[in-house]
Amino acid sequence: MHLPRPAATLAVALLAACGTSASAPAVTDAHKAVSFDEAAWKPLREADIPNDSMGASIRRGLYLLRYTRDSLPAYATSSLNCTSCHQDDGLKLTAAPLTGSHARFPKYMPRSGTVIALADRVNYCFTRSLAGNAIPVGSREMTDILAYLAFISKDVPIGTKIAGTEGILPMKDTLVGDVARGEALFTSKTCVTCHQADGQGAGPYPALWGPKSYSVGASMTRHERAASFIMHNMPQTAPGTLTAQEAFDLAAYINSHPRPDSPGKELDWPKGDAPADVPYDTPGHQAFRPPPVLPRANPGGGLVPNPPVIGHAKR
Ligand code: HEC
Ligand code: HEC
Repeated sequence: MHLPRPAATLAVALLAACGTSASAPAVTDAHKAVSFDEAAWKPLREADIPNDSMGASIRRGLYLLRYTRDSLPAYATSSLNCTSCHQDDGLKLTAAPLTGSHARFPKYMPRSGTVIALADRVNYCFTRSLAGNAIPVGSREMTDILAYLAFISKDVPIGTKIAGTEGILPMKDTLVGDVARGEALFTSKTCVTCHQADGQGAGPYPALWGPKSYSVGASMTRHERAASFIMHNMPQTAPGTLTAQEAFDLAAYINSHPRPDSPGKELDWPKGDAPADVPYDTPGHQAFRPPPVLPRANPGGGLVPNPPVIGHAKR
């Protein structure tokens, strides 16, 4: 006959396990920090995707990042794909890499003033960087994108910030960009060849301003962020050939043009800690060189609500 284990026996066993005798380890192996060799770590790539159901989800996620506007035209309404900025399938170190992102979330985001999950961070890029609409958090597409982000974060311990993989590299100096100089560089440095003189791009070349570009609420509208992206990644055929001043001039020129509005942006950085070059008013911050904004077709779709609190509702 099966008898329930007497409570006293269990208590004795627990006491023994928690004892401070020299022979008992303070923590079991399972609780020890996983050793992680940051320098040796390499993210998995497309060729490593397994041929099973999990692999199918990872592959769909990768293709959603690469072909966002063709795959999700109702949500990605600009000419950009996720990989327009997160280049090389999100793996390129100088282009806001997504490697390890799965291990960095949930995370406090100063812009929203709250701790957000990775799915919400993905939706911030859908609504702001792609100037599109948030995708349903419980959708297969979101799950697939998260599956890919987990895949390129494999073996990175939770909470680890791998050097150089968080965000666009900070610029060493904050220089002042000059719009007229930037306009001249836009032609002389061959940007026009791919992004066109009117900045609207064509085919695989994304728009840099106008209704099909990133919204005013995207990080790329900050001169420093754009300058770093441009200096390290553009022109695509000869990255690394621009000086920091040229990159700031180009950023100033590109970000002086009209672009889609970002609903709710006036509530950003609610704690008053907006970076100096944010181009719109936020609590305690005055817009830095604000561009003209274009109305959005579906302003509601461009919002990512903070996670709602459900525990305190009165019955
Ligand atoms: C216009 C450029 C641009 C596009 C397009 C874009 N992003 Fe981003 N994304 C950024 C920038 C910039 C950051 C923040 C990096 C920083 O702060 O320096 C970022 C951050 C992220 C992060 C958080 C990374 C981390 O570890 O903190 C995720 C996840 C992300 N993007 C996913 C996406 C997805 C998915 C798409 C497509 C739906 C997308 N992004 C499209 C520019 C872009
Ligand atoms: C040979 C073609 C080519 C040239 C020249 C070029 N780009 Fe790009 N650019 C691209 C492509 C393609 C992307 C998207 C990334 C991808 O798909 O790999 C991009 C992305 C960008 C982005 C981020 C996405 C967006 O739409 O905002 C910026 C900003 C940018 N380029 C600025 C510039 C500037 C400034 C120059 C000139 C210094 C320049 N580019 C020259 C091809 C080019």
